Amino acid sequence: MPDAAKPVSKSQTTITELMIPSYANFGGKIHGGILLSLMDKVAYACSSKHAGTYCVTVSVDRVEFLKPVEVGELVSLHASVNYVGRSSMIVGIRVEAEHVKNSTVRHTNSCYFTMVAKDDHDKPAEVPKLILETHNDVRRFIEAMHMKEIKSRINEQLDDVKSTLHVNEAMELLKKERCIIAFKDEE
Ligand SMILES: CC(C)(COP(=O)(O)OP(=O)(O)OC[C@H]1O[C@@H](n2cnc3c(N)ncnc32)[C@H](O)[C@@H]1OP(=O)(O)O)[C@@H](O)C(=O)NCCC(=O)NCCS
Repeated sequence: MPDAAKPVSKSQTTITELMIPSYANFGGKIHGGILLSLMDKVAYACSSKHAGTYCVTVSVDRVEFLKPVEVGELVSLHASVNYVGRSSMIVGIRVEAEHVKNSTVRHTNSCYFTMVAKDDHDKPAEVPKLILETHNDVRRFIEAMHMKEIKSRINEQLDDVKSTLHVNEAMELLKKERCIIAFKDEE
């Protein structure tokens, strides 16, 4: 029988990893894919601690690489379950890069992973309720509720756009864009 409820603090997880030269791209900065893989790992660790089961990644939101990470920096990823539904959990991840020599810490990104707990038959499994122990826990839970709502509205609007779009009628929209129409014979 899984726990009925668990506090946010019980599953909070941090992973720290040194950025070694083999993680770098041709420009000498750390590959986005390396950071994404670390985010996925910490999201898994945090969500499976809360759920007490195996979890899968369903969706990734707000991953933006606005500040490059350098070789030699220590990257720490702090993960926390921000919200739980029935089987889904939204895990917030704060990514920080620390320059060891001058002790500066930069916040490089905050992103959100939706994870779903699975039972032994690979079906979504109910997760424990979340005990909110601080004002920050409450704020993050409410923000996640809004984020879910906004995302679902965006998805509906995108579906509308896709279902009503007729390429020939929409050509006008492209006039000011930096593209050139050069159709080849289409089958
Ligand atoms: C995600 C998955 C579990 C959904 O399974 P399903 O049988 O459709 O189950 P449900 O419709 O009951 O959804 C389960 C939960 O996932 C959530 N969910 C489903 N699709 C979602 C999406 N696109 N974004 C966010 N949450 C989603 C549902 O809201 C539900 O949450 P709740 O239980 O808290 O209400 C299933 O599609 C899956 O296993 N996907 C593969 C995941 C994977 O392999 N990831 C590895 C990375 S490639």
